[in-house]
Amino acid sequence: MHLTFRQIEVFNAVARLQNYTRAAEALHMSQPAVSMQVKQLEESVGLPLFEKVGKMVHLTEAGRYMHEYGRHFADLLEEADTVFEAIKGVERGTLAISVATTASHFATRLLAEFAKRHAGITISLDITNRESLRRQLEHNEPDLVIMGQPPEGVDVEADAFMENPLVMIAPAGHYLAKRKSIPLVDVQEESFVVREQGSGTRSAIERFFTKNGVAFKTDIEMTSNEAIKQAVEAGLGLGIVSIHTLELELETKRLQILDVKGFPIKRHWYIMQRKGKRLSPAAEEFKTFVLEQAKEFIRLP
Ligand code: PGA
Repeated sequence: MHLTFRQIEVFNAVARLQNYTRAAEALHMSQPAVSMQVKQLEESVGLPLFEKVGKMVHLTEAGRYMHEYGRHFADLLEEADTVFEAIKGVERGTLAISVATTASHFATRLLAEFAKRHAGITISLDITNRESLRRQLEHNEPDLVIMGQPPEGVDVEADAFMENPLVMIAPAGHYLAKRKSIPLVDVQEESFVVREQGSGTRSAIERFFTKNGVAFKTDIEMTSNEAIKQAVEAGLGLGIVSIHTLELELETKRLQILDVKGFPIKRHWYIMQRKGKRLSPAAEEFKTFVLEQAKEFIRLP
């Protein structure tokens, strides 16, 4: 068989995303180039690897075997890369970090500090939602992931490094702003502007209200914390966000934290990698930096 790693890499992406166009986007290639690589691979295997049903592509029996081997190839290649990075030492190499949307509010600061100390390391940062982080961990893609709670169904090695309190926010001058120890039932008539289903913030909020037996009403959900703060400021409802997303808004008194019983909702930030993953020296160094020093660089309001 005359196949190349590039063909396997392209095949893996099509198999994972079940779509030629999305695979082309992920690999920064044109769609015809992706099709060509798959066709060449099919020719060297001598069997079709995909069948097309509508816009989705599905693996054939041979394709399923190739997917198994393809993943082994990719893991082996990555392991080899880690070994070479180790030989080069901590001051060289690459570091791929993926973080949950809310964590981006402090992750850039951490990476900037780390980059200052290790100028030789090339860093890439992916900011994405919980579901995509779970998938990335499953496929062993990033070196490290920072998110609110280890995902279910994937074996990871996770360490908590900092608190992540969720607070209830209201626009300046809101009628509840002056009250102390507001009972939770007093806000059940309010409408909330909150993060989308699938985000860690949203599931923590729903768990909290269910646990306390109080109804929770939301008419608008948003995928961006920035948009939520603007919506709350504009009077669209109350919000519940991580305290890490607030800073200027509190300083300039555009938003206020409400003193509601049970709040802040207590959560933690975790840094993790897939169980059994061999971390490169750069990744090891970054993890230690986060666990030992993150709190020094993250200012809470
Ligand atoms: P998210 O982040 O709410 O932006 O998803 C926190 C988490 O992962 O729990």
